[in-house]
Amino acid sequence: MKLNIAVLPGDGIGPEVTAQAVKVLKAIAMEFNHVFTFDYGVVGASAIEKTGVALPQETIALCEKADAILFGAIGNAVYDMDPMAKIRPEQGLLGLRKTFDLYADVRPVIAYEDILDKSSLKKKQIKDTDILIYRELTSGIYFGEKTFSDDGNTATDTCQYTRFQIERIAHLAFIAAQKRKRKLTLVDKANVLASSKLWRKVIQEMAPQYPDVAVSYMYIDKAAMELAINPRQFDVILTENMFGDILSELAGVIVGSIGLLASASFSDKKAMFQPIHGAYNKASNQGIANPIAAILSAAMLLDHFELYDEASLVKEGVDKSLKLHITTPDLNTKYEHITTIKVGDFIEDFINNPDETNLNFTNIHLGQSTII
Ligand code: IPM
Ligand code: MG
Repeated sequence: MKLNIAVLPGDGIGPEVTAQAVKVLKAIAMEFNHVFTFDYGVVGASAIEKTGVALPQETIALCEKADAILFGAIGNAVYDMDPMAKIRPEQGLLGLRKTFDLYADVRPVIAYEDILDKSSLKKKQIKDTDILIYRELTSGIYFGEKTFSDDGNTATDTCQYTRFQIERIAHLAFIAAQKRKRKLTLVDKANVLASSKLWRKVIQEMAPQYPDVAVSYMYIDKAAMELAINPRQFDVILTENMFGDILSELAGVIVGSIGLLASASFSDKKAMFQPIHGAYNKASNQGIANPIAAILSAAMLLDHFELYDEASLVKEGVDKSLKLHITTPDLNTKYEHITTIKVGDFIEDFINNPDETNLNFTNIHLGQSTII
């Protein structure tokens, strides 16, 4: 298969982790005789520095002609301390979501057996957790009308949803549930918010179309607690933009590190793949950033193009790295100095030699082939 991928590494640790995802995709292309080409663009704070805006026209053009977008991370603490800044790195990501109408954000949450003890939650509670969060991504409070009064003392954000916006992502979530444990939980705040009442009404009306899916409804505050105490009860979680942002970050606690959480956002024509973590500028260029979320996002890209064997091989490589504790310091207490690049090298080597199990740890530390 021929694929042209727009690569937007972004800020902070974005370039380091994205480089590992690209490395893995190149290894897959070699092994399976695909032709993947990569075109690079700027976004976020690094784009502001170069061009004055967070999402330059050239970047949009690059993504337009690409089959898929591989995104790193954005953000910079400089902007975080200036809430009134007119130009912000996040506009790059939000602009991409809006420009390409990437309305369905899919965030898998899997508690890996080999690292259950890395979670601050109890092992017995998180074991076997396997959740798929469907987060609406192009509407709600993020994109509704905003005001800021001239005297600087009053501000509003509007949370607006239409039936169309709810139905299109809900169909995808129902279909996903049909292929899994056939459970769908709508997370909302329908006891208070008008937009949530609409979500609940629309899902209730749609549910009979999917009689094989058991639908439940949960308020966001309760869902946050349930996710921490009994995450196994969930299969597919469907929710609006802001609730999905918060719940998916909380899910990082279940898996042991936010550095493991991948995501994919879809419109009907375009798809973007992105680790859910931020730019973590403090950690950049130290080799400590976990590349697995970026690598698993690349696996989601492969799945999207129905390259299922390829995606499985990447996921197996990740599983193996976790099993052998070849991970960055956020997860690794066993060996020291396993860098971002070395984790990427290991998974690349695994793709090249999946049957070899004889690992050479000296070579890992020398940055050479990890398998002999
Ligand atoms: C995410 C991020 C973004 C969001 C930020 C960077 C705008 O937190 O993808 O979860 O809030 O959606
Ligand atoms: Mg977030």
